[in-house]
Amino acid sequence: MLKPLEMAHELLAEVINPKDVVVDATMGNGYDTLFLAMLQAEVYAFDIQKTALEMTEKRLNQAGILSDFLEEGRKELASHSTVHLIHSGHETVGQYVKKPVTAAIFNLGYLPKADKKLITRPETTLTALSALAKQLKVGGRIAVMVYYGHEGGEAEKTAVVNWVTSLPQECWEVMSYAPLNQIHTPPFLIVLEKRKEA
Ligand SMILES: C[S@@+](CC[C@H](N)C(=O)[O-])C[C@H]1O[C@@H](n2cnc3c(N)ncnc32)[C@H](O)[C@@H]1O
Repeated sequence: MLKPLEMAHELLAEVINPKDVVVDATMGNGYDTLFLAMLQAEVYAFDIQKTALEMTEKRLNQAGILSDFLEEGRKELASHSTVHLIHSGHETVGQYVKKPVTAAIFNLGYLPKADKKLITRPETTLTALSALAKQLKVGGRIAVMVYYGHEGGEAEKTAVVNWVTSLPQECWEVMSYAPLNQIHTPPFLIVLEKRKEA
């Protein structure tokens, strides 16, 4: 069976075509950014930690993919690249991504092996989700991997679940995919698909 993250990638790959605009809201070590770049999409990847941009740039370079590296406050994009690594929180997505978005992925929580206090937070996660939901094309999808075993994770999980369950069903299809018999707090997936504009 597919793991939740593999399922997230499957469901996003189904709707992404080359040159589509897509967002990795939580770049981290760059696995999701690389996955999106391999689909030949135009990727906007966000993280608040510079080390995430460095790790991701390295991963992309190893795969032969060029990226540009943006500091907070500098918003011009290099034209040679289709992967934009943005050193800013995903809540600023509207400042950087001006085109309709086909897909986005969030991997909530903290960067493994880094500072566990630098976690995604309910307010900024919901700000980014709301902004992306507005910019999403009809037929587009947003995948949210919910990690909630760390301190603060349960509150973020509740905030995200409450937000997605409040989306009107005539405009949104919302699904989850979760392991049900695992001990501890295994991550699970929520996927939203826009059916029509509100
Ligand atoms: C679970 S990790 C992401 C893993 C990543 N997708 C990968 O493929 O390796 C979560 C990341 O979210 C980042 N983060 C925390 N708050 C953020 C925010 N407001 N905007 C963007 N990234 C944020 C953390 O710095 C961390 O790197």
